[in-house]
Amino acid sequence: MCGIVGYIGPNRATDFLLEGLRRLEYRGYDSAGVVTFEEGGGLAVTKTTGRIEKLASALQATPHDGTLGIGHTRWATHGPANDANAHPHLGGDRVLALVHNGVIENYQVLRQKLTERGYVFKSDTDTEAVAHLISFELDQLLAGGIIDGLPDGDDPHRVLVEALRVATSQLRGTYGLAVVFRDYPNVILASRLGSPLVIGVGDGEHFIASDGSPLAGHTDRIVYLADHEIAVVSAGAIRVLGRDSALVTHSVEQLEIDASQVELGGFPHFMLKEIFEQPETIRNAMRGRLDREQATAVFGGLNLEPRQLRSIDRMVLTACGTSWHAAMVAEYMIEEFARLPVEVEYASELRYRNPPMSPLTLLLAITQSGETIDTLAALREMKRKGHRSLAICNVVGSTIAREADGGVYLHAGPEIGVASTKAFTSQCVVLALIALHLGRLRHLSYEAGLRIIDELEALAASVEKALETNDMARHVAGRYAGCDNFLYLGRQYNFPTALEGALKLKEISYIHAEGYPAAEMKHGPIALVDEHTPSVFIVPQGAVYEKVLANMEEIRARGGPVIAIVDEDDERASQIADEVIRVPHVADYLQPIVTAIPLQLLAYHIAVLRGCDVDKPRNLAKSVTVE
Ligand code: F6R
Repeated sequence: MCGIVGYIGPNRATDFLLEGLRRLEYRGYDSAGVVTFEEGGGLAVTKTTGRIEKLASALQATPHDGTLGIGHTRWATHGPANDANAHPHLGGDRVLALVHNGVIENYQVLRQKLTERGYVFKSDTDTEAVAHLISFELDQLLAGGIIDGLPDGDDPHRVLVEALRVATSQLRGTYGLAVVFRDYPNVILASRLGSPLVIGVGDGEHFIASDGSPLAGHTDRIVYLADHEIAVVSAGAIRVLGRDSALVTHSVEQLEIDASQVELGGFPHFMLKEIFEQPETIRNAMRGRLDREQATAVFGGLNLEPRQLRSIDRMVLTACGTSWHAAMVAEYMIEEFARLPVEVEYASELRYRNPPMSPLTLLLAITQSGETIDTLAALREMKRKGHRSLAICNVVGSTIAREADGGVYLHAGPEIGVASTKAFTSQCVVLALIALHLGRLRHLSYEAGLRIIDELEALAASVEKALETNDMARHVAGRYAGCDNFLYLGRQYNFPTALEGALKLKEISYIHAEGYPAAEMKHGPIALVDEHTPSVFIVPQGAVYEKVLANMEEIRARGGPVIAIVDEDDERASQIADEVIRVPHVADYLQPIVTAIPLQLLAYHIAVLRGCDVDKPRNLAKSVTVE
């Protein structure tokens, strides 16, 4: 939540800042702002409520020429979305300006103390307290004469580093910060705790961002800051200092994103682009990971010996939102292939629970962004108790990817639409590979392993065919876009898909939708059924096909419209349903991947028809870095 950018170099800073903010807009879009250092004019701030385009217009009317600047796109936590609460926030008497991503839990105490010291607050935010606090600590240090005992004796910026270090040591909560100073116009300071921050390394210029996407097309060299580190960024150099202000040797890594991945490429929305990327992203998730010789899946980064994997007695899968739905699919897969007990926990619950777990319990965290704060906290809590951990992440170098003991990347490329699509199907694929790997170390026969490999290899083609449902999904959307309530129903492997279909619809179209196990609807939700409440059944042929047909009849008997996602050669479900969307037949455990496609398309077309902002639904942000 909230996106941060920064630029220092020979060019006009706002060019990069605006482009970078557009690419980070998925992290929040309540307000946006920039500050630059202007020759002879000090710190110049422009901020606007609403989308980045409003900021772009404001900057067109009043351009900033400075070559050093920072910017922010906000997902409001403290205080409504208005100009005063938009970042950057000024500290002291325009001594510094900063942008912040995260939440400062003790901001009220700090605000009180700073007010007593004469600081005047102009916003409701937690962030403004940080700005004034750094300014206060800077004043203290400057008034007390230059500090002794710090490294780099001749470093003109050491007083800034120290002020930032002392100020952040008083913060409780999370932060990614970028700070510029009126009297030091050739440096940006950046620091983080719990919120992501990266630095792009250019030639004679440097970039700061919340993730790698703004850097694409500018540089492919990236430095990932760790918690508590402070980066001193000038046009010609980066220095990273640790918690004790000692110099840290930082490694420069390769950025894996190219500019075309963050452009629309002819699609009207990122969500649609990402839906159509799925045959390719599914291939990428499997590439190099299928071993026919051993009839298993292989991974480079699990960091667990077969002996250790065999000794696991239980798995806990943790995630949020759509990733949690993928975890639920995996529960069925791992139980079926590996015969291992699996529990799926919301990360936001797991982090505060203390469930009894044997030392042989393995934690698997699933997250597209790798930054979701609850998933990160659950991972840390389980690690603290001595459990081994694995993570499935999409964003390379993200905090969770770095903190887990081992893991698997999705290689799905940047997911920019706020509603997750390609990450979900890639997560399901990687989880199937993990289930196969664990199964082959335990109970699964060679023949069964080979059969699964055959099925996985045919999957991308089935997803390609499933995308042909686009026209049908648009047609069905046209008939039901005016409804206010939807039910999504499926059983076994298709129960998580029902939850995911309902989530997609509600988050982008603002229609109330509930996902249920199809038989469970008799225990309450069936009371909602009437001629204006469609039920979307996910009913491909498989182990529970007959049972779901009976559930469809129950809805029809009460006058509820039925939309059915069925196999291409289906006859029986098609006779019961009002609308039928046909997808290729695949094995039961792969059905969530293939049936997710028409559900994504249905939600997309309904949202478009209702005039909703598909890629940036209200109130949401893609990367949830606050609790
Ligand atoms: C829904 C959606 C969210 C995320 C959730 C977890 O479309 O995108 O529900 O799935 O916020 O995010 P990650 O996977 O980044 O941890």
